[in-house]
Amino acid sequence: MGEKEISFRLRVYESVNELTAADKNLLKAAQNALGSAYAPYSKFRVAAALLLNDGRIVTGTNQENASFPAGICAEGTALSAASAVYPGEAVIKIAITIKNENRVISQPVAPCGICRQRLLEYENRFNNSIEVIMAGEDGPVYIVPTVKDLLPLHFSGSVL
Ligand code: THU
Repeated sequence: MGEKEISFRLRVYESVNELTAADKNLLKAAQNALGSAYAPYSKFRVAAALLLNDGRIVTGTNQENASFPAGICAEGTALSAASAVYPGEAVIKIAITIKNENRVISQPVAPCGICRQRLLEYENRFNNSIEVIMAGEDGPVYIVPTVKDLLPLHFSGSVL
């Protein structure tokens, strides 16, 4: 019997102020998009801003449904929009932020499992890493260089 250890490193920034201008800009785009979230059930708004290879920024927000499983996460909305409108462009970064209408969340919020798998598909499709920038309403910001860090031992289409 052998064992393998899988680990990853998380970059921890004390606040948005420590980010590069480009990352601040991407996070700002996500923050600006929060108003378009449709979250009447959870009151938890999520926004994602994708930086495409050609420099464009595409945003998406969560879109809920009275039949809860029919709702779509912000990351999924953003990825679908990018793929539908700019199908040939790789995604190189994603910034994710949130607004809880009930209380202030001062810690980064990480993407759900399904969205990690969705993001992984884009990494594999365009054969490039996607940097993931995670921020709460305020407080620290986390950055990982690739979605694979967030989804170790992932399922990939290479086995199909
Ligand atoms: N949500 C996202 O948009 N992205 C995630 O990665 C986690 C959760 C949304 C789904 C739902 O509308 C609300 O947050 C509460 O779960």
